[in-house]
Amino acid sequence: MIQKIIDPARKAQIARDVLEALQDWFGVEESREYYIRESQSWDFFAAVEGEDAVGFLCLKETGNATVELAVMGVKQEYHRHGLGRELFEAAKAFAVAAGYEFMQVKTVAMGFYEDYDRTNRFYQSVGFKELEIFPLLWDEANPCQIYIQSLKEDRSLPDLIMNRHSYRGKYKTDKVPEEDLKKILEAGLAAPSGCNKQTTSLICVDDEELLTKIKAVIDPPVGETAPAMICVLTRRIFAYRDKCFATQDYSATIENMLLAITALGYQSCWYEGHVTDDDRIGDQIAKILKVPEEYELVCVLPVGIPDFGGEDREGAAKVLTGPKKLPFEKRAWFNGFPTGFSI
Ligand SMILES: Cc1cc2nc3c(=O)[nH]c(=O)nc-3n(C[C@H](O)[C@H](O)[C@H](O)COP(=O)(O)O)c2cc1C
Repeated sequence: MIQKIIDPARKAQIARDVLEALQDWFGVEESREYYIRESQSWDFFAAVEGEDAVGFLCLKETGNATVELAVMGVKQEYHRHGLGRELFEAAKAFAVAAGYEFMQVKTVAMGFYEDYDRTNRFYQSVGFKELEIFPLLWDEANPCQIYIQSLKEDRSLPDLIMNRHSYRGKYKTDKVPEEDLKKILEAGLAAPSGCNKQTTSLICVDDEELLTKIKAVIDPPVGETAPAMICVLTRRIFAYRDKCFATQDYSATIENMLLAITALGYQSCWYEGHVTDDDRIGDQIAKILKVPEEYELVCVLPVGIPDFGGEDREGAAKVLTGPKKLPFEKRAWFNGFPTGFSI
């Protein structure tokens, strides 16, 4: 059970009990005593088992919109019981309710100590994103990684739409969790279709061996670093009489998926021209995936976390702004076509 602790003396007692048991993380007496002392004035959440507090987490205000996860610890024998996550969820719910918009947390950067690597992975698993590494904030042996996450409700749909851009840069190697891929596919399948014929089908590929085979036929390569690829299939059947709406159907599906991809913090690009051109890359991919003949593979969408680092700054700049669009008044009007208009 998670309890919010108010009494400063009880806070200090729990903090001491837990931190002194975690020598691998809090072995430096000076910093351990700092956390014990300061925790008395921070928002304090304890994980209580029976009579005993076996873990705790503190939030500290660092700005009028930002709160810091200042310290947390769970006794080692209670690791992998989900208590860290429970503590975090309780603290986050409190921070949202208190009106904070961002939460930050600092830890030793990934790749230096195994124990801290686990801490990094925990923070990432509860939604933190890398903000910046400060190599000398603590000392050379302990570069400080700052993570951040937004506490605001989901972005509004118009805001999301305006922030979707085709991403053609590199992707991080991190796998996209299957539940996120499923959400993206479901968003696609929820799209409208002419006469509800549902002519679009989807194959998501995240198996490394299969991905490698598919990427090998995409020449010139696109999305070659993406950890997942969604292949869009269509059946060009008539919706009624001789009317086929297959193109409209899969276009709606693709846009829904692109928006879901953006909403979940990933990037993508609608690759249709590339795979349906004279060299028929789509047909080669369909063959690898054993797609029956009545389906046509018309588009691939790479999915992954964008890698804005290193030499790929061009891709980063592009995705943040997107290509120029014509001004509103050249493409949209109220109550009729404007007289004398030419594009
Ligand atoms: C039907 C269709 C086919 C596309 N095919 C490709 C393609 O083969 N390669 C590519 O890089 N982008 C492709 N795109 C992405 C467009 O180039 C992109 O949407 C356009 O430049 C506008 O940029 P934005 O998506 O950032 O707004 C395609 C888009 C659509 C709608």
